[in-house]
Amino acid sequence: MRLKPPYRYSVYAAFAALVLTGAGWLVADWQKNISSDEIWQQTAAYMLMMHGGIAMLTLLLLGALIPLHLVRSWRTGRNRISGSVMVTLNAVLIMTAFGLYYLGSETVRPWMSWTHLVVGFSVPVLFTAHIFLGRRTR
Ligand code: HEM
Ligand code: HEM
Repeated sequence: MRLKPPYRYSVYAAFAALVLTGAGWLVADWQKNISSDEIWQQTAAYMLMMHGGIAMLTLLLLGALIPLHLVRSWRTGRNRISGSVMVTLNAVLIMTAFGLYYLGSETVRPWMSWTHLVVGFSVPVLFTAHIFLGRRTR
């Protein structure tokens, strides 16, 4: 159930990088609308490219987590509630990411964007709570 340190730190690093590139994109996107400087346009595109690339690696890590962590933890009955919140959170992120890529509609896209963003920024809090609650059940 406890993850081996290299794997555990890879998960932490992946989510930290997703949050940072997500925040970086937000800043660049906001700046490009108020500043005529070309650099913000480029920075925004670069942030999204990094975010998308890191998201692909994160999906690999999440896939490996199913047999290594989710199934085993579920069987022991430990931390099921916050574990389910983690699964829901990641499922929403993945579904809205799909929406951001492929649903071009003017009405649907802003919803995908806002949901992805709000859920994305709640990751640090919910992730920390999940680990804290999980360790308490040892
Ligand atoms: C995508 C979903 C999930 C992610 C990303 C995730 C991630 C993590 C991480 C990184 C830790 C810290 C590991 C450590 O200290 O070695 C942890 C701890 C824990 N998680 Fe999850 N988790 C998820 C789902 C679940 C589910 C569904 C359950 C339960 C059914 C669960 C139960 C636990 C328990 C019991 C611990 C404490 C382990 C210990 O320190 O003894 N997790 N989780
Ligand atoms: C497994 C988790 C995640 C996946 C698979 C994922 C994937 C994606 C993808 C594919 C995009 C669209 C990129 C593009 O349009 O080129 C995106 C956009 C974005 N993501 Fe994530 N992401 C994840 C987690 C996060 C987290 C934790 C945050 C935290 C802030 C975040 C913030 C953002 C932001 C701000 C955008 C730009 C939104 C927009 O274009 O309107 N994402 N993400």
